[in-house]
Amino acid sequence: MNDAQTIAVQVVGVEQITPLIKHFKLALPEGGDLPAFSGGSHIIVVMNGATRVHRNPYSLLSAPHQLGAYEIGVRRIEESRGGSHFMHDSVRVGSRLEIAHPVNLFGLDKIARKHLLIAGGIGITPILAQLEDLHGGDVPYELHYSVRSPEHAAFLDRLQRREGGRVRMYYDSEQQLIDFDALLANQPLGTHVYVCGPAGMIKHVISTARAYGWSDSHIHWEQFSAPPVGDAFEVFLARSKLSVHVPPDRSLLESIEAAGVEVPYLCRGGVCGFCHTRVLELDGELLHNDHYLSDADKAKAKSIMPCVSRARCKSLVLDL
Ligand code: FES
Repeated sequence: MNDAQTIAVQVVGVEQITPLIKHFKLALPEGGDLPAFSGGSHIIVVMNGATRVHRNPYSLLSAPHQLGAYEIGVRRIEESRGGSHFMHDSVRVGSRLEIAHPVNLFGLDKIARKHLLIAGGIGITPILAQLEDLHGGDVPYELHYSVRSPEHAAFLDRLQRREGGRVRMYYDSEQQLIDFDALLANQPLGTHVYVCGPAGMIKHVISTARAYGWSDSHIHWEQFSAPPVGDAFEVFLARSKLSVHVPPDRSLLESIEAAGVEVPYLCRGGVCGFCHTRVLELDGELLHNDHYLSDADKAKAKSIMPCVSRARCKSLVLDL
């Protein structure tokens, strides 16, 4: 993926829907249909800020059969390095953005006998599009949606209008917690579970499902990590013969790109594995933040996912 493959879009709608989440609609400036996608897909939004370019992944929440505009929800993340702030503070109706073609890393299983959907907070966004794919079909499904309080329940009207009794809400403010044991212990054979939300929720769903004997092929989750800030470090790209400085507020991937070296990517959130890069030499430690490498691979320190991971090191040589 590179910027030559992006699509120019215009912002045709912006709405603050909760204290933290803005809802954006993106369309082709000349009108017409955007590329087709399926529920669970995400796009990368390229934001050309005054001093830097941000490329952030956002799930598409609109109905896959309505291609006149893509819809995304962006949660303002105070500790972020700027992408969500840019979307909240600088993007308005009429703004131009670049987006990458949709990619689905969180698709619905086509032969599932039932779909059990679990969302926490902004994690509702890919599930909204999945629901559009499921709505009116023969396969049963239900949604369990947890938020901190009613004012943080994004898209609740839409959900209740479309899905009615299939949606069960849980409000932290009212001490309503999802009973994952009860939910995962008693599902019909052939059920697939999909979870998107905070890291703790995803981890808990995965471990609870495994404890009740669910096969990993029936457990689906998505969580894009935001690249964390960290100490600056230097990296040497062996094939390009380039030294690259990685400042505290830039990811390793962004720093390599700024030096003119392309690294393949799909998610920029530590999920897809496309940016997998071999570590040739290391004096120090890798700070893995991805959800792709196994714990064993992380311990070997022979690979890094530069979209979200960093290093604390005297020297690092990558196979790029
Ligand atoms: S781009 Fe997907 S894991 Fe790095």
